[in-house]
Amino acid sequence: MRRAVCPGSFDPVTYGHIDIVGRAAKQYDEVVVAVLNNISKRGLFSVEEKLDMLSEGTGDFGNVSVAEFDGLLVDFCRDNGIDTIVRSLRSVSDFDYELQIAQMNYRLSGVETVFMTANPQYSFLSSSLVREIAQHSGDVSSLVTPYVQKRLREKYAERSAGQ
Ligand code: PNS
Repeated sequence: MRRAVCPGSFDPVTYGHIDIVGRAAKQYDEVVVAVLNNISKRGLFSVEEKLDMLSEGTGDFGNVSVAEFDGLLVDFCRDNGIDTIVRSLRSVSDFDYELQIAQMNYRLSGVETVFMTANPQYSFLSSSLVREIAQHSGDVSSLVTPYVQKRLREKYAERSAGQ
């Protein structure tokens, strides 16, 4: 049984993430999408909201589950019988950053990192750009699922109402 993890911040999940998760799901018996619960950096969405949107976005893949983690990713891998981390590369600058992390994770634990090249359709896409566009009521319909669009609209409406 080969289990892989697709880790990330997912603030919020985009079609780029879903594309990678779907492709990983074809390569591994089980894929866990793991959301970092980062207590020192508050995102737009809570971890619970991110898990909800991820469940909705990956629900069609039969062998994908979602989970949260804190601390080191390699500890999450050890505790969950995962031997492969799947990460997406959109650009050379992604590679520069990811290479160091992948090598450190391997040194720490022997967990392998497998890089998947981003689908060119989504190589410009990031959660931070989605947030920026949505904040200014721009069109994100080709970037995130309709459910995430709705959650973004609600979140920015709550914020402008001062909640
Ligand atoms: O979506 P992101 O923000 O690019 O995801 C980054 C993430 C969550 C995969 C990375 O920051 C991570 O694994 N954090 C957990 C702490 C950790 O294990 N860091 C690496 C130490 S070498």
